[in-house]
Amino acid sequence: MKIDGKSKLCGLIGKPVEHTMSPLIHNTLSEILGKNMVYVPFLVEEDLKSAVEGAYALNIRGLNITVPYKEKVVDLLKEIDPLAGQIGAVNTLCKTEGGYVGYNTDMTGLYRAFCSEGIKIQGEKVIILGAGGAARSVACLCSHYKAAQIFILNRNVEKAKLVAEEINALQEEPLVFPMALEEFDQLPKEKMLCIQATSVGLAPCEERVVIENQSFYERIHTGYDLIYRPANTRFMQLVKAQGGRAFHGLKMLLYQGIEAYEIWNECRVEESLCNTIYEKMKGEMGIEE
Ligand code: ATR
Repeated sequence: MKIDGKSKLCGLIGKPVEHTMSPLIHNTLSEILGKNMVYVPFLVEEDLKSAVEGAYALNIRGLNITVPYKEKVVDLLKEIDPLAGQIGAVNTLCKTEGGYVGYNTDMTGLYRAFCSEGIKIQGEKVIILGAGGAARSVACLCSHYKAAQIFILNRNVEKAKLVAEEINALQEEPLVFPMALEEFDQLPKEKMLCIQATSVGLAPCEERVVIENQSFYERIHTGYDLIYRPANTRFMQLVKAQGGRAFHGLKMLLYQGIEAYEIWNECRVEESLCNTIYEKMKGEMGIEE
């Protein structure tokens, strides 16, 4: 990598940032595309405002924002993309005249991962497991892309109700239906897309899953786990055992990076190059399939 006076700088702000795969995504893209861009992680202990203002002053073109700053950064933006605004969380900043514009490529990246796997949202009935930050974002995405109905199942049903109320307030008819996990037998008796958006099953607690009962998995034609470590979660195994297709979340991570790269460089990354990067990420993680 050649760095000179014209090199464009992008980076990641978060705490911690040690295990990020984003430098691999962005620096490999720049290398292959011959773009003069460098991507570096920045550990920000606490002063997010100074970090963002400093980045702006240093002419840093783009930033990814990760835990714990995705919500907090919203107040530091000049402008916010409408979907990111509805979600209330931003993971990508792009420098413009007068400040940064914020996007949520976690969700547009998830949508692109769905498209690449032939998974449809529009007109579909969707089950979301969880009602935390990730699940809420997924519910916003599903409403944005016109799912027919969204069932949010959570251990704490009150949290599911809050997410449902928030999204339903923007709809003409109720779109989101909150349920407790053990109420799954009240779901429509048909096969649906199910997105696993809880932290349950994340390594090292790989044997865990929010619903064990196999009759739940009979209702799933496609299971998408946002978790990618391990690459074959217990949720995925249970979906497959009942004949469904199952995916882990590594493509979401890939495409959130691709979409950020496209925003910063005003370009479109070809699918074949996305696949090259994906292979590298799998290599890094020791995933073989
Ligand atoms: P994130 O930002 O990653 O979504 P979060 O906001 O802490 O993280 O949300 C974690 C989600 O995992 C929640 O839906 C949580 O359920 P509760 O709202 O009932 O706490 C879910 N979760 C975590 N541990 C769980 C467990 N042992 N059983 C069931 N759900 C669990």
